[in-house]
Amino acid sequence: MGKPYGRSCVLITGATTGIGYELAKLYAKEGNNLILVARDEERLSEVKEELDLYNIKVYILPLDLSEDNSCEKVLDFVNKKNLSVDILINNAGIGSFGYLSEIEIEKELKLIDVNIRALTELTKMFLPTMISHGEGGIMNVASTAAFCAGPKMATYYASKSYVLNFTEALYEELKGSEIKVSCLCPGPVKTSFQEKSGIKKNEAAKKALMTPKEVAEIAYKDFKKGKLIIIPGFKNKLIILLNKLIPRALSRKIILFMNKG
Ligand SMILES: NC(=O)c1ccc[n+]([C@@H]2O[C@H](COP(=O)([O-])OP(=O)(O)OC[C@H]3O[C@@H](n4cnc5c(N)ncnc54)[C@H](OP(=O)(O)O)[C@@H]3O)[C@@H](O)[C@H]2O)c1
Repeated sequence: MGKPYGRSCVLITGATTGIGYELAKLYAKEGNNLILVARDEERLSEVKEELDLYNIKVYILPLDLSEDNSCEKVLDFVNKKNLSVDILINNAGIGSFGYLSEIEIEKELKLIDVNIRALTELTKMFLPTMISHGEGGIMNVASTAAFCAGPKMATYYASKSYVLNFTEALYEELKGSEIKVSCLCPGPVKTSFQEKSGIKKNEAAKKALMTPKEVAEIAYKDFKKGKLIIIPGFKNKLIILLNKLIPRALSRKIILFMNKG
């Protein structure tokens, strides 16, 4: 928008449902052009149609981020359309549930590809342009799971610990620059994520979930302020604080008990 490089955009992965979709709406309302990535092409078109009403440019890119070369396809798309990713939101993420000995390895590897590899690769791809422009922002979506080990969801919890540590390190590397770096760590949110991941929660736990709209609004505001770790909701902040105070062995036992349902 009036800058000597390609059209400024906010790139959001996993923007068709849940937190990513709510973030897309917030950025659209503010007048930002968007690049939306997810697998479901039909749903991407529906979201585009809805957000076109805000008089912005909405680019959609149907892509499975677990596939080889998927991030290169994102970069190709951005370059061919002469776009510039000023804000990158690595939101797409998948879960898996069960004892590691019983889950298919393909599922775990896909999870690592989406939650870790694609997030790292996209960050690495778009960071140099942000540095050369002297501004930008990266928001990576982790989870409260990032703060502990998660028996029965071992790979998922570990993937989110990676996201948190990776983002914290990046924040330190970029301190003093005009590039904002945040890690969003939501607790349970009312999206299709739980069901898709095969997580069974009891009724009490279901009531404790925040809505994706609430989470996105907090994330949007705190990211703008340049807050490094964003934990939406008082209960989630308290749980993380308590978890830090108890021995890790006890934390693991509590999480296994909860995950046994
Ligand atoms: N819901 C929770 O309780 C919760 C709690 C803490 C953290 N989180 C994190 O929040 C983030 C968003 O989750 P959500 O709750 O909003 O879940 P969601 O409603 O299931 O949304 C996930 C989004 O990611 C996309 N996606 C999934 N796999 C993909 C792939 N292989 N390639 C490209 N896009 C893919 C989905 O679209 P397609 O299916 O069309 O690809 C969808 O747009 C995730 O990183 C999740 O780990 C969620």
